Amino acid sequence: MKISGKTKILGIFGYPIEHTLSPQMHNAAIEVLGLDMVYLPFEVRPEGLGIAVEAIRSLGILGVNVTIPHKSAIIPYLDRISEEARVIGAINTIVNRGGELIGYNTDGEGYVRSLKRELDFDVKGKKVLILGAGGAARGILVSIAREGPKDVIVANRTITKASTLVRELKGLFPDVGMTALGLIPEILKVHLGGTALLINATSLGMRGEGIGLPLDALPGDTVVSDIVYKPLITPLLEEASALGFITHNGLGMLVEQGALSLKLWTGLDAPIEIMREVVLKYLDNPYPI
Ligand code: ATR
Repeated sequence: MKISGKTKILGIFGYPIEHTLSPQMHNAAIEVLGLDMVYLPFEVRPEGLGIAVEAIRSLGILGVNVTIPHKSAIIPYLDRISEEARVIGAINTIVNRGGELIGYNTDGEGYVRSLKRELDFDVKGKKVLILGAGGAARGILVSIAREGPKDVIVANRTITKASTLVRELKGLFPDVGMTALGLIPEILKVHLGGTALLINATSLGMRGEGIGLPLDALPGDTVVSDIVYKPLITPLLEEASALGFITHNGLGMLVEQGALSLKLWTGLDAPIEIMREVVLKYLDNPYPI
């Protein structure tokens, strides 16, 4: 490791932080690009968030990623946020431009890029079903809506969260049909026909839980996608692939959102394949356990 007085610092703010794979992914990219930078994990407790943001300025940190639980709470401490981040209501990237802290959200765009890169899949004119209405679903919905799908259904366990999200976004994307539903298999079954892309943006699947949807009611060419990457093959994806559907896991979104952050900090295109390999290696060999 070649750290000198000129080395620029990047990092990630989260709590807890020890299970993040971003340092491995970004430091591998930094090495390949030959940059004099280092990317560090910062355990930031909620009560210390404001001081931590101030430290970006006072320590001259070039930029940070922001993860759970700070993605929305951090916004009031920033000087500016992008239009997309404002609509999403959350950021995952801060850029320090000469002391001005600017917030961006690369999660949703990372998701859309991953679909394009891995499956050459374009949502334009298609019907999309998003499960979930939390922070992750919000980011994905905004980025997908910008691509001009025909219809988007948002289905969430707490239906009021889905309705609020749809109500907020309908006004911004008047050409996209948007419907809110509960996450109830018998009701959703009626709406599965014509779906080109089904996305699990809930946390279901992280601990081996299935979604309980009758996937056989989907058209045969539906892409079944899960933003969970630990495990890489969730019960939803396992079932979908056994039924012959094309599947898409959460690894690409993780890598692409990181690549977009790195581009914001450095202006450079990130080595996507290397980043993917590194994450895969550490997913197989979780560090530290
Ligand atoms: P994230 O930032 O990952 O989206 P979040 O904002 O806490 O996290 O949202 C978690 C999502 O997973 C929500 O859509 C949540 O549904 P509720 O809004 O009803 O809470 C969904 N979720 C979590 N556990 C779930 C479960 N056991 N069954 C169904 N949905 C669940």
